[in-house]
Amino acid sequence: MNVPLLATDDGELADRDAFRREVLAGLGGSPRAIPAKYLYDARGSALFDAICEQPEYYPTRTEAAILRRHAGEISDLAGAGSALVEFGSGSSVKTRLLLDAMQDLHAYVPIDISRRHLDATAQRLREDYPGLRVDPVTGDYMALDALPPTIDGARRIGFFPGSTIGNLRPEEAVAFLRRARRLLRADGALVLGVDLKKDTQRLHAAYNDAAGITAQFTLNLLRRMNRELEANFDLSAFAHEAFYDEPAGRIEIYFRSLRNQTVMVAGRRYTFIEGERVHTEYSYKYAEADIAELARLGGFSIAHIWTDPARLFAVAFLTQAQNEKARP
Ligand code: AVJ
Repeated sequence: MNVPLLATDDGELADRDAFRREVLAGLGGSPRAIPAKYLYDARGSALFDAICEQPEYYPTRTEAAILRRHAGEISDLAGAGSALVEFGSGSSVKTRLLLDAMQDLHAYVPIDISRRHLDATAQRLREDYPGLRVDPVTGDYMALDALPPTIDGARRIGFFPGSTIGNLRPEEAVAFLRRARRLLRADGALVLGVDLKKDTQRLHAAYNDAAGITAQFTLNLLRRMNRELEANFDLSAFAHEAFYDEPAGRIEIYFRSLRNQTVMVAGRRYTFIEGERVHTEYSYKYAEADIAELARLGGFSIAHIWTDPARLFAVAFLTQAQNEKARP
Protein backbone atom coordinates (compact mmCIF):
# COMPACT_ATOMS: atom_id res chain seq x y z
CA MET A 1 0.00 0.00 0.00
CA ASN A 2 1.21 3.42 -0.86
CA VAL A 3 -0.43 5.35 1.95
CA PRO A 4 0.49 9.02 2.34
CA LEU A 5 1.65 10.14 5.78
CA LEU A 6 -0.19 13.42 5.92
CA ALA A 7 -3.66 12.04 6.51
CA THR A 8 -5.00 13.22 9.83
CA ASP A 9 -7.16 10.33 10.99
CA ASP A 10 -7.75 6.65 10.35
CA GLY A 11 -10.85 7.38 8.37
CA GLU A 12 -8.83 9.49 5.99
CA LEU A 13 -6.22 6.77 5.50
CA ALA A 14 -8.93 4.25 4.64
CA ASP A 15 -10.64 6.80 2.37
CA ARG A 16 -7.40 7.48 0.51
CA ASP A 17 -6.85 3.79 -0.04
CA ALA A 18 -10.40 3.27 -1.33
CA PHE A 19 -10.04 6.31 -3.60
CA ARG A 20 -6.82 4.89 -5.08
CA ARG A 21 -8.35 1.46 -5.59
CA GLU A 22 -11.50 2.77 -7.22
CA VAL A 23 -9.66 5.22 -9.45
CA LEU A 24 -7.27 2.54 -10.71
CA ALA A 25 -10.18 0.17 -11.32
CA GLY A 26 -12.17 2.95 -13.00
CA LEU A 27 -9.37 4.07 -15.32
CA GLY A 28 -8.54 0.46 -16.11
CA GLY A 29 -12.15 -0.31 -17.01
CA SER A 30 -14.00 0.17 -20.23
CA PRO A 31 -15.73 2.54 -20.49
CA ARG A 32 -13.61 4.53 -18.02
CA ALA A 33 -15.50 5.85 -15.00
CA ILE A 34 -14.81 7.20 -11.51
CA PRO A 35 -17.53 7.06 -8.81
CA ALA A 36 -19.29 10.39 -8.25
CA LYS A 37 -18.80 10.34 -4.49
CA TYR A 38 -15.12 11.24 -5.00
CA LEU A 39 -16.11 14.63 -6.38
CA TYR A 40 -16.74 15.78 -2.82
CA ASP A 41 -13.41 16.53 -1.19
CA ALA A 42 -13.26 19.87 0.69
CA ARG A 43 -12.78 21.88 -2.51
CA GLY A 44 -15.36 19.81 -4.38
CA SER A 45 -17.93 20.34 -1.65
CA ALA A 46 -17.28 24.09 -1.72
CA LEU A 47 -17.63 24.08 -5.53
CA PHE A 48 -20.88 22.15 -5.25
CA ASP A 49 -22.18 24.80 -2.84
CA ALA A 50 -21.23 27.39 -5.47
CA ILE A 51 -23.06 25.38 -8.16
CA CYS A 52 -26.17 25.59 -6.00
CA GLU A 53 -26.00 29.37 -6.24
CA GLN A 54 -25.66 29.57 -10.02
CA PRO A 55 -28.70 31.09 -11.72
CA GLU A 56 -28.98 28.08 -14.08
CA TYR A 57 -28.90 25.49 -11.29
CA TYR A 58 -32.54 25.56 -10.20
CA PRO A 59 -32.77 22.36 -8.04
CA THR A 60 -31.43 23.66 -4.72
CA ARG A 61 -33.47 26.82 -4.47
CA THR A 62 -36.56 25.16 -5.90
CA GLU A 63 -36.42 22.31 -3.39
CA ALA A 64 -35.78 24.75 -0.54
CA ALA A 65 -38.85 26.75 -1.58
CA ILE A 66 -40.98 23.59 -1.64
CA LEU A 67 -39.72 22.55 1.80
CA ARG A 68 -40.23 26.03 3.21
CA ARG A 69 -43.73 26.21 1.84
CA HIS A 70 -44.83 22.73 2.94
CA ALA A 71 -42.77 22.13 6.09
CA GLY A 72 -45.91 22.35 8.22
CA GLU A 73 -47.66 19.62 6.21
CA ILE A 74 -44.54 17.47 6.27
CA SER A 75 -44.37 17.92 10.03
CA ASP A 76 -48.05 16.94 10.34
CA LEU A 77 -47.53 13.81 8.23
CA ALA A 78 -44.46 12.88 10.31
CA GLY A 79 -46.31 13.34 13.56
CA ALA A 80 -45.00 14.66 16.88
CA GLY A 81 -42.10 12.94 18.61
CA SER A 82 -40.56 11.33 15.54
CA ALA A 83 -36.84 10.96 14.78
CA LEU A 84 -35.42 12.58 11.66
CA VAL A 85 -32.79 10.46 9.86
CA GLU A 86 -30.85 12.16 7.08
CA PHE A 87 -29.03 10.07 4.46
CA GLY A 88 -25.81 11.83 3.40
CA SER A 89 -26.31 14.91 5.51
CA GLY A 90 -23.38 17.06 4.35
CA SER A 91 -23.83 20.40 6.04
CA SER A 92 -27.54 19.82 6.78
CA VAL A 93 -28.63 23.18 5.40
CA LYS A 94 -32.03 22.05 4.11
CA THR A 95 -32.57 20.03 7.24
CA ARG A 96 -33.05 23.21 9.19
CA LEU A 97 -36.25 23.88 7.27
CA LEU A 98 -37.63 20.63 8.68
CA LEU A 99 -36.06 21.02 12.13
CA ASP A 100 -37.73 24.42 12.41
CA ALA A 101 -41.13 22.92 11.63
CA MET A 102 -41.17 19.49 13.25
CA GLN A 103 -42.97 19.09 16.54
CA ASP A 104 -41.19 17.67 19.58
CA LEU A 105 -38.52 15.98 17.53
CA HIS A 106 -37.15 12.95 19.39
CA ALA A 107 -33.74 13.17 17.74
CA TYR A 108 -31.91 14.13 14.57
CA VAL A 109 -29.67 11.39 13.13
CA PRO A 110 -27.38 12.67 10.35
CA ILE A 111 -25.57 9.94 8.41
CA ASP A 112 -22.45 10.88 6.47
CA ILE A 113 -19.19 9.28 5.39
CA SER A 114 -17.19 12.32 6.44
CA ARG A 115 -16.60 12.19 10.19
CA ARG A 116 -15.26 15.72 10.26
CA HIS A 117 -18.25 17.07 8.36
CA LEU A 118 -20.60 15.28 10.74
CA ASP A 119 -18.91 16.50 13.91
CA ALA A 120 -18.94 20.09 12.71
CA THR A 121 -22.58 19.86 11.66
CA ALA A 122 -23.68 18.19 14.89
CA GLN A 123 -21.87 20.83 16.92
CA ARG A 124 -23.54 23.71 15.06
CA LEU A 125 -26.99 22.15 15.27
CA ARG A 126 -26.68 21.53 19.02
CA GLU A 127 -25.83 25.20 19.43
CA ASP A 128 -28.69 26.40 17.24
CA TYR A 129 -31.30 23.93 18.53
CA PRO A 130 -30.77 23.66 22.27
CA GLY A 131 -32.51 20.57 23.59
CA LEU A 132 -32.35 18.75 20.26
CA ARG A 133 -30.67 15.37 20.56
CA VAL A 134 -28.23 14.94 17.65
CA ASP A 135 -26.92 11.39 17.18
CA PRO A 136 -24.60 11.33 14.17
CA VAL A 137 -23.74 8.08 12.41
CA THR A 138 -20.49 7.87 10.45
CA GLY A 139 -20.83 5.61 7.46
CA ASP A 140 -22.00 4.96 3.94
CA TYR A 141 -25.79 5.12 3.94
CA MET A 142 -25.79 2.65 1.04
CA ALA A 143 -24.30 0.01 3.35
CA LEU A 144 -25.72 0.84 6.77
CA ASP A 145 -27.46 -1.89 8.79
CA ALA A 146 -28.61 -0.19 11.97
CA LEU A 147 -29.49 3.15 13.49
CA PRO A 148 -28.65 4.27 17.05
CA PRO A 149 -30.73 2.52 19.75
CA THR A 150 -31.49 5.96 21.18
CA ILE A 151 -34.24 6.33 18.58
CA ASP A 152 -35.91 2.99 19.31
CA GLY A 153 -39.53 3.70 20.02
CA ALA A 154 -39.72 6.88 17.91
CA ARG A 155 -41.24 6.92 14.44
CA ARG A 156 -38.38 7.20 11.95
CA ILE A 157 -38.65 9.80 9.22
CA GLY A 158 -35.92 9.52 6.61
CA PHE A 159 -34.76 12.57 4.66
CA PHE A 160 -32.96 12.24 1.32
CA PRO A 161 -33.04 15.68 -0.32
CA GLY A 162 -31.27 17.33 -3.23
CA SER A 163 -32.13 14.66 -5.79
CA THR A 164 -29.05 12.81 -4.61
CA ILE A 165 -31.06 9.74 -5.58
CA GLY A 166 -30.52 10.92 -9.17
CA ASN A 167 -26.81 10.06 -8.90
CA LEU A 168 -27.85 6.40 -8.60
CA ARG A 169 -28.78 4.12 -11.46
CA PRO A 170 -32.45 3.13 -11.17
CA GLU A 171 -31.59 -0.33 -9.81
CA GLU A 172 -29.27 1.25 -7.23
CA ALA A 173 -32.00 3.73 -6.34
CA VAL A 174 -34.37 0.82 -5.70
CA ALA A 175 -31.71 -0.91 -3.57
CA PHE A 176 -31.30 2.32 -1.60
CA LEU A 177 -35.05 2.57 -1.00
CA ARG A 178 -35.23 -1.03 0.20
CA ARG A 179 -32.39 -0.45 2.62
CA ALA A 180 -33.99 2.77 3.83
CA ARG A 181 -37.27 0.90 4.24
CA ARG A 182 -35.65 -1.62 6.57
CA LEU A 183 -33.79 1.05 8.54
CA LEU A 184 -36.89 3.18 8.93
CA ARG A 185 -39.09 0.23 9.91
CA ALA A 186 -42.69 -0.53 9.03
CA ASP A 187 -44.23 2.66 10.41
CA GLY A 188 -41.45 4.88 9.09
CA ALA A 189 -41.53 7.32 6.18
CA LEU A 190 -39.11 8.92 3.76
CA VAL A 191 -39.04 12.53 2.59
CA LEU A 192 -37.45 12.31 -0.85
CA GLY A 193 -36.33 15.20 -3.08
CA VAL A 194 -36.35 14.39 -6.81
CA ASP A 195 -35.47 16.48 -9.84
CA LEU A 196 -38.21 16.23 -12.45
CA LYS A 197 -37.94 15.62 -16.19
CA LYS A 198 -38.17 18.85 -18.17
CA ASP A 199 -37.05 20.45 -21.39
CA THR A 200 -33.54 19.58 -22.52
CA GLN A 201 -32.34 23.18 -22.75
CA ARG A 202 -33.08 23.92 -19.15
CA LEU A 203 -31.39 20.72 -18.00
CA HIS A 204 -28.40 21.34 -20.23
CA ALA A 205 -27.96 24.86 -18.84
CA ALA A 206 -28.12 23.62 -15.24
CA TYR A 207 -25.08 21.39 -15.83
CA ASN A 208 -23.21 23.82 -18.08
CA ASP A 209 -23.44 27.07 -16.15
CA ALA A 210 -22.06 30.16 -17.84
CA ALA A 211 -19.63 30.90 -14.99
CA GLY A 212 -18.02 27.51 -15.48
CA ILE A 213 -18.43 26.38 -11.87
CA THR A 214 -19.74 22.94 -12.85
CA ALA A 215 -16.72 22.53 -15.13
CA GLN A 216 -14.43 23.37 -12.20
CA PHE A 217 -16.34 20.86 -10.07
CA THR A 218 -15.75 18.06 -12.59
CA LEU A 219 -12.11 18.99 -13.19
CA ASN A 220 -11.51 19.18 -9.44
CA LEU A 221 -11.48 15.39 -9.54
CA LEU A 222 -8.27 15.61 -11.60
CA ARG A 223 -6.82 18.02 -9.08
CA ARG A 224 -7.74 15.62 -6.29
CA MET A 225 -6.04 12.73 -8.10
CA ASN A 226 -2.96 14.91 -8.59
CA ARG A 227 -2.83 15.70 -4.89
CA GLU A 228 -3.88 12.42 -3.31
CA LEU A 229 -2.69 9.86 -5.86
CA GLU A 230 0.46 11.55 -7.12
CA ALA A 231 -1.12 11.95 -10.54
CA ASN A 232 -0.01 14.52 -13.11
CA PHE A 233 -3.17 15.49 -14.97
CA ASP A 234 -2.79 18.75 -16.89
CA LEU A 235 -6.08 20.47 -16.07
CA SER A 236 -5.92 22.55 -19.23
CA ALA A 237 -5.80 19.40 -21.37
CA PHE A 238 -9.21 18.10 -20.22
CA ALA A 239 -12.70 19.58 -20.43
CA HIS A 240 -15.99 19.12 -18.57
CA GLU A 241 -18.75 17.58 -20.69
CA ALA A 242 -22.40 17.31 -19.64
CA PHE A 243 -25.47 16.59 -21.73
CA TYR A 244 -29.00 15.28 -21.33
CA ASP A 245 -29.65 11.83 -22.76
CA GLU A 246 -33.39 12.14 -23.17
CA PRO A 247 -34.24 8.49 -23.91
CA ALA A 248 -32.25 7.44 -20.84
CA GLY A 249 -33.74 10.30 -18.77
CA ARG A 250 -30.39 11.34 -17.37
CA ILE A 251 -27.68 13.94 -17.46
CA GLU A 252 -24.32 12.31 -18.16
CA ILE A 253 -21.13 14.01 -17.01
CA TYR A 254 -17.56 13.29 -18.11
CA PHE A 255 -14.12 14.80 -18.31
CA ARG A 256 -12.81 14.65 -21.88
CA SER A 257 -9.24 14.58 -23.10
CA LEU A 258 -8.48 17.51 -25.43
CA ARG A 259 -5.51 15.77 -27.01
CA ASN A 260 -3.61 12.51 -27.15
CA GLN A 261 -1.71 12.31 -23.89
CA THR A 262 -0.25 10.11 -21.19
CA VAL A 263 -0.94 10.61 -17.51
CA MET A 264 0.63 8.97 -14.47
CA VAL A 265 -1.69 7.99 -11.61
CA ALA A 266 -0.36 6.25 -8.49
CA GLY A 267 2.62 4.95 -10.40
CA ARG A 268 0.69 3.70 -13.43
CA ARG A 269 0.63 5.09 -16.91
CA TYR A 270 -2.67 5.80 -18.68
CA THR A 271 -3.02 6.84 -22.28
CA PHE A 272 -5.87 9.09 -23.39
CA ILE A 273 -6.67 9.69 -27.01
CA GLU A 274 -8.15 13.01 -28.11
CA GLY A 275 -11.87 13.04 -27.35
CA GLU A 276 -11.72 10.10 -24.93
CA ARG A 277 -13.99 10.53 -21.93
CA VAL A 278 -14.05 9.41 -18.33
CA HIS A 279 -17.51 9.19 -16.81
CA THR A 280 -17.99 10.94 -13.46
CA GLU A 281 -21.74 11.30 -12.85
CA TYR A 282 -25.24 10.43 -13.84
CA SER A 283 -28.06 12.69 -12.75
CA TYR A 284 -31.30 10.86 -13.40
CA LYS A 285 -34.50 12.83 -13.84
CA TYR A 286 -37.90 11.39 -12.99
CA ALA A 287 -41.43 12.22 -14.07
CA GLU A 288 -44.02 12.05 -11.28
CA ALA A 289 -45.20 8.68 -12.57
CA ASP A 290 -41.58 7.45 -12.52
CA ILE A 291 -41.32 8.45 -8.87
CA ALA A 292 -44.42 6.41 -8.06
CA GLU A 293 -42.92 3.42 -9.86
CA LEU A 294 -39.55 3.83 -8.17
CA ALA A 295 -41.26 4.07 -4.79
CA ARG A 296 -43.30 0.95 -5.52
CA LEU A 297 -40.22 -1.07 -6.48
CA GLY A 298 -38.55 0.09 -3.27
CA GLY A 299 -41.52 -1.00 -1.17
CA PHE A 300 -42.94 2.46 -0.59
CA SER A 301 -45.91 4.39 -1.86
CA ILE A 302 -46.42 8.13 -2.24
CA ALA A 303 -48.50 9.49 0.61
CA HIS A 304 -48.09 13.01 -0.69
CA ILE A 305 -46.07 14.84 -3.32
CA TRP A 306 -45.38 18.55 -3.62
CA THR A 307 -43.92 20.43 -6.56
CA ASP A 308 -43.18 24.06 -7.42
CA PRO A 309 -45.50 25.96 -9.80
CA ALA A 310 -43.17 25.33 -12.78
CA ARG A 311 -42.93 21.62 -11.90
CA LEU A 312 -39.16 21.63 -11.87
CA PHE A 313 -38.67 19.61 -8.70
CA ALA A 314 -40.67 17.35 -6.41
CA VAL A 315 -40.61 16.46 -2.74
CA ALA A 316 -42.41 13.21 -1.96
CA PHE A 317 -43.52 11.86 1.41
CA LEU A 318 -43.21 8.09 1.05
CA THR A 319 -44.70 5.60 3.45
CA GLN A 320 -44.23 1.88 3.41
CA ALA A 321 -46.57 0.15 1.01
CA GLN A 322 -49.36 -1.41 3.04
CA ASN A 323 -50.46 -4.16 0.72
CA GLU A 324 -47.03 -5.58 0.15
CA LYS A 325 -45.29 -8.35 1.98
CA ALA A 326 -42.12 -7.33 3.77
CA ARG A 327 -39.19 -7.99 1.46
CA PRO A 328 -35.82 -9.21 2.60
C1 AVJ B 1 -25.90 16.33 -5.84
C2 AVJ B 1 -26.24 14.60 -7.40
C3 AVJ B 1 -28.00 16.12 -6.92
O1 AVJ B 1 -27.04 15.72 -9.98
O2 AVJ B 1 -27.66 17.78 -9.78
C4 AVJ B 1 -24.68 19.08 -9.89
C5 AVJ B 1 -24.68 16.87 -8.54
N1 AVJ B 1 -23.25 17.60 -10.46
N2 AVJ B 1 -23.96 19.56 -10.92
C6 AVJ B 1 -26.99 16.81 -9.42
C7 AVJ B 1 -24.23 17.84 -9.60
C8 AVJ B 1 -23.08 18.66 -11.26
C9 AVJ B 1 -26.13 16.96 -8.18
N3 AVJ B 1 -26.55 16.01 -7.10
